[in-house]
Amino acid sequence: MLGVCYYPEHWPESIWQQDAQEMRQLGLKYVRIGEFAWSKIEPRDGEFDFAWLDKAIATLAAEGLQVIMCTPTATPPKWLIDKHPDILPVDIHTGVTRGFGSRRHYDFSSENYFNQAMRISEVVAKRYGQHPDVCGWQTDNEIACHDTTHSGSLVAKQAFQLWCQQQYADIDSLNTAWGNIFWSMEYQDFSQIELPILAVTETNPSHQLAYRRFSSDQVIKFHDEMVKVIRKHAPNRFVTHNFIPLVDTQTDNFALAKDLDFVSYDNYPLGRSDMFFKHMPAEQYKPYMRTGHPDFSSYSFDQSRGVSQNNFWVMEQQPGPVNWAHHNPRPEKGMVRLWSWQAFAHGADCVCYFRWRQVPFAQEQMHAGIKRNDNSKAAAWNEVSQMRDELAKVNFSIEENVAAKVAIVTGAHSQWVTEIERQGDSYNHQRVEFGYYTALRQLGLAVDFISVDHDLSPYSLVVAPCLPIVSAEFVAKCQRADAHIVFGPRSGAKTPELSLVDNLGPGLLQQLIPIKVLSTETIRPDCSEVMTYHGESFESHCWREELELSEDVITEAFYHDGLPAVARFDKTSYIASLTCEAFLKTYFANLCQQLDIVMTELPKDVRIVHRGQYAFVFNYGAKAKQLPKVIQGEFVLGSADLAPYDVAVIKQAL
Ligand code: GAL
Repeated sequence: MLGVCYYPEHWPESIWQQDAQEMRQLGLKYVRIGEFAWSKIEPRDGEFDFAWLDKAIATLAAEGLQVIMCTPTATPPKWLIDKHPDILPVDIHTGVTRGFGSRRHYDFSSENYFNQAMRISEVVAKRYGQHPDVCGWQTDNEIACHDTTHSGSLVAKQAFQLWCQQQYADIDSLNTAWGNIFWSMEYQDFSQIELPILAVTETNPSHQLAYRRFSSDQVIKFHDEMVKVIRKHAPNRFVTHNFIPLVDTQTDNFALAKDLDFVSYDNYPLGRSDMFFKHMPAEQYKPYMRTGHPDFSSYSFDQSRGVSQNNFWVMEQQPGPVNWAHHNPRPEKGMVRLWSWQAFAHGADCVCYFRWRQVPFAQEQMHAGIKRNDNSKAAAWNEVSQMRDELAKVNFSIEENVAAKVAIVTGAHSQWVTEIERQGDSYNHQRVEFGYYTALRQLGLAVDFISVDHDLSPYSLVVAPCLPIVSAEFVAKCQRADAHIVFGPRSGAKTPELSLVDNLGPGLLQQLIPIKVLSTETIRPDCSEVMTYHGESFESHCWREELELSEDVITEAFYHDGLPAVARFDKTSYIASLTCEAFLKTYFANLCQQLDIVMTELPKDVRIVHRGQYAFVFNYGAKAKQLPKVIQGEFVLGSADLAPYDVAVIKQAL
């Protein structure tokens, strides 16, 4: 299924009908509307205009299109801000109020905004909740984007004080939990508690972690209430939200997704690669400048499937150059189609393109659409129409799922700890996790993302690239599991309040592998050292721990000075350093062989994933690639000689 994001309020009504007709001809089924239209729906306080929206829905429906309606809460209008100035958030780095004039200018702790957002959501949900042509709902838009999870406002401070009061029995418990005796930071009363921002130098990590938990809770409270409001008035309709990359929400995404029917993801592989890979030398980056890294989109697709343990949608798919990254290249010809197929292969049930037509005014006028602003067909048009024809041929059912034997354990707490306590400037949580993911994907393995709360029984290999805080329940679950479990450095090293564990790292994980982390050092990324494994040399970089092993623990890899870099005991491995992709790939390949996990040897830039009876193969490279002989079956799309930027879909016997 395909869809598109459309803004009837940007165009004269006279063109809507033709737009709807062309959407249908292009094979689109869903149209998402309304997420930024508050000022048009309610131009003045309490004065509503729904005539245009009724008409837009009717025009789309007349062509058989189904509407996904959004709550317009990402863009509170000017009259509302003037009425309740405390809606505006305060920048935590400068203490300056973030003004009106773009979007997402609201503070999750503003009670005024909470009430207003639920009010407008209720008005819209009441009007369209049971509309026969509105099939589902999107909450807000890219919640927490543009660094809006944290606010340094007075209302945020008051809400944080209250939150602390609910978490700790009394102020002395809080002082002890955070270690406030250090630097005379003790409080005598909850009402004295500050936000951990704008201090002279570093603030207490425990205080920071509490503030992040609080801020995440505020986002979830806001979002949960909105879902409730929609469900009350829109029975039997799906409710979803369009997520940004999970690390960017600064929120516990598993908790955020819990009341949704499924998660949606906004896929901008080029815009986001430009930012994510900015450290990469040009000669490595350039081959992917117009494609994105082969594992970059699927990293977010697999995470989207993970947070709700369900198939997902792509609610926005980049159709050409965007306008908001450091640089905004055009996709290589064929990539819009490839990304769309890649989404389906990793568990998407629908891909919607952003946006129907390039808009000639305001902030996103340089952002491509399926059509240009003169209404001619832009580059994406042909690729979307190819998708329409090919989907009819492949015809997979949404009951067919990705089945993985390998899982990566992820979660917001791990990310927060590494951001609060970098210890080395070059430590980057997302890059660390992505390094493990891409190594596994290069071996042809399907990967699930799970939280510490998930069942481990479907997996033969579980990888936790960085899990600083672990609970006794999680350790017990690992003990019961059949899977081999690999932990990366920093794992188990911290208490839930972000202090050092008493028995040294990896803390409770010592029950799985009897080792101790005696010391930790970080080094410059350009000063990496050698690590040896089975006689081969690899890189140890940025983060290095000194291990003491109990008898019976095997050293599998060594630092340049002969000390243990990777330890193994029974079915647990501990990697004590950050290391290169080549090491992870070699190490996982050996483990998979021992664990009987089937891998597929793939040419460079080629990736494979299975969904139900189909194998999907992608060539991200600029040259044709010969697929390995083991990939057998009926080629519904493509061939064993896979052209650059092409996709093969192979029907296989189950
Ligand atoms: C998304 C956002 C859209 C639009 C788009 C441009 O992140 O949800 O509203 O701004 O980016 O690429």
